[in-house]
Amino acid sequence: MGFEHTSVMPKEVHEYQNLKPGDICVDCTLGGSGHALSTIRAILPNGTLLGIDQDMDAIDNAKKVLNPFEKNIRLFHSNFSKLPEILESCGITGVNSILLDLGFSFNQLVNGNRGFSFNKDEPLDMRMDIRTPLTARQVINTYTEKDLVNIFFKFGEERFSRKLTRTIIKKREEAPIETSKELAQILVDATPAKQIFAQKIHPATRVFQALRIEVNQELAQLETFMKDLPSLLVKGGRVCIISFHSLEDRIVKHGLRKFEAGCTCPRQFPHCMCGFVPMLRSILKKPLLPTQAEIDANPMARSSKLRVAERI
Ligand SMILES: C[S@@+](CC[C@H](N)C(=O)[O-])C[C@H]1O[C@@H](n2cnc3c(N)ncnc32)[C@H](O)[C@@H]1O
Repeated sequence: MGFEHTSVMPKEVHEYQNLKPGDICVDCTLGGSGHALSTIRAILPNGTLLGIDQDMDAIDNAKKVLNPFEKNIRLFHSNFSKLPEILESCGITGVNSILLDLGFSFNQLVNGNRGFSFNKDEPLDMRMDIRTPLTARQVINTYTEKDLVNIFFKFGEERFSRKLTRTIIKKREEAPIETSKELAQILVDATPAKQIFAQKIHPATRVFQALRIEVNQELAQLETFMKDLPSLLVKGGRVCIISFHSLEDRIVKHGLRKFEAGCTCPRQFPHCMCGFVPMLRSILKKPLLPTQAEIDANPMARSSKLRVAERI
């Protein structure tokens, strides 16, 4: 099946990127290259787009989709937490635009064959970068009860993490849990019928999210990225970040706020002792949400939030 790009908030992202011909831009999460296509068209004829994705399938797809703009593009099979090193390797000291469209792509969900979807019977893998060592199968079959409860609670905000973990442990003692469908069925069976009817989401949703975050170390990678952010942008350069759940959004919100605030000295200090000055300013007072029309057309956009900040 072909790669599809169902970019979230494409018009909004394009508007807030504020691009002009000649800009140097980074798309940190190429996915189906939808946002990348609109970015490259806006910076021609002499702009440069660096495209990153940790999934080789996304890079292979980008090679095809972005082929007409080959001269203006450089692709990196890497993690966006390594952006400072990537820019350094290109001799670039600052860029005009950075885009992060977090989480997993439509292609990974539908064609990935890596167990991202609880509706499919696929090997429990969930690695976006298949060079990394940890798979969802290992997490489910080898983590201690305490660790499983912790990750389901912390990364899935799953209220029933203890009960679900106990059921998983019992099942894995009979035989290893191998596929996404097997795990999804265990989670459905462990959830009281009353609960299944009461909640709007599939009973496996939160556990699958937690596993994906753990396997790909998603929050840690995002935290690393946020640490260096302002120094990667030229003055007036913008960062647009689309998050899909509250854990991601919290990291983005606090990460941006820290650089907007500047001085971190206690209020009672007569003078600033820390020397931090504001380096970013928020372009949006509140995060932007997709329109209902977009959600109807692309349910994956449902929980997305766009935050935008500018280097000052
Ligand atoms: C939501 S999709 C991006 C969709 C894309 N913007 C489009 O228009 O089609 C997210 C992509 O980011 C990649 N990704 C997620 N976390 C990453 C990370 N830390 N480093 C590099 N790529 C990452 C995933 O492999 C996936 O392909």
